[in-house]
Amino acid sequence: MQVVTTRAELATARARLRQVGLVPTMGYLHEGHLSLVRAARAQNEAVVVSIFVNPTQFGAGEDFETYPRDTERDLQLLADAGVDLVWMPQVHDVYPPGASTSVLVSGLTDVLEGAHRPGHFTGVATVVAILLNATRADRAYFGQKDAQQVLVVRRMVDDLAIPTTIVTVPTHREGDGLAMSSRNVYLDEQQRPHATVLVQALTAASRAWSGGERDADRLRAAMTHVLAAEPLAQPDYVSVADPQTLAELSTIDPARGALCSLAVRFGRTRLIDNVVLSAA
Ligand code: PAJ
Repeated sequence: MQVVTTRAELATARARLRQVGLVPTMGYLHEGHLSLVRAARAQNEAVVVSIFVNPTQFGAGEDFETYPRDTERDLQLLADAGVDLVWMPQVHDVYPPGASTSVLVSGLTDVLEGAHRPGHFTGVATVVAILLNATRADRAYFGQKDAQQVLVVRRMVDDLAIPTTIVTVPTHREGDGLAMSSRNVYLDEQQRPHATVLVQALTAASRAWSGGERDADRLRAAMTHVLAAEPLAQPDYVSVADPQTLAELSTIDPARGALCSLAVRFGRTRLIDNVVLSAA
């Protein structure tokens, strides 16, 4: 496995590979990331992973400085997973001095995570555009865990005619259902067992949907009810939205289905999760 830093080193290493699947990450890898790597391994001749904690997608007061990092462990996991090339750029390799271009995906980014984290998705869209272009990826892999991120990336790739196929990989969960996340390490021993309340709330919505419920307000109420029973959990939002436009729904069209999503704070740790209520 080769590890490179600069854009020039990346270009040289990339030129030796014919067909590439890219897995963009911010490191501190867990099984969720590795499930993306395995999907990429199965579908491409070569797998490239980027590890870059992207400063432009963190807001003021967010955890950019303290975001967990463990490069040695990450590289061992990626070598064991059969990755060919790792791009670990410095900030100036991604954003060279004078860089002044950003990618704004409008509409989709005004709601949910975008509403609570102003500028976040402009940072994501900009860095993903750079990562896709610099690696000349044929396919790129993203987790359904960050459902809005996948929609934003797909929109950006279509709008900018970037010739990379975006592949979505299902959410990987801990044994008790908690969606894996690099930020789960922030949860203390007392909070951790209660963090399953997110998946419990989403499961309540899925069950109601399977039982024939089509009223979005009742699904929101079912999720809110589960969250309210957990005193450590402070919900930021509870959403039942169109799975493509993210517009909040009143009645769910069974032919379109819906995306149920949540953001919940446990002290200073903010967790997100979602479930798709699939179209008939
Ligand atoms: P990061 O949070 O490191 O996640 C990298 C990729 O792993 C994302 O596509 C994310 O959705 C996916 N992922 C995280 N947890 C997952 C889980 N439990 N199951 C499946 N996939 C999971 O998301 C980012 O980094 C950044 O925004 C990035 C796209 C790299 C741009 O900076």
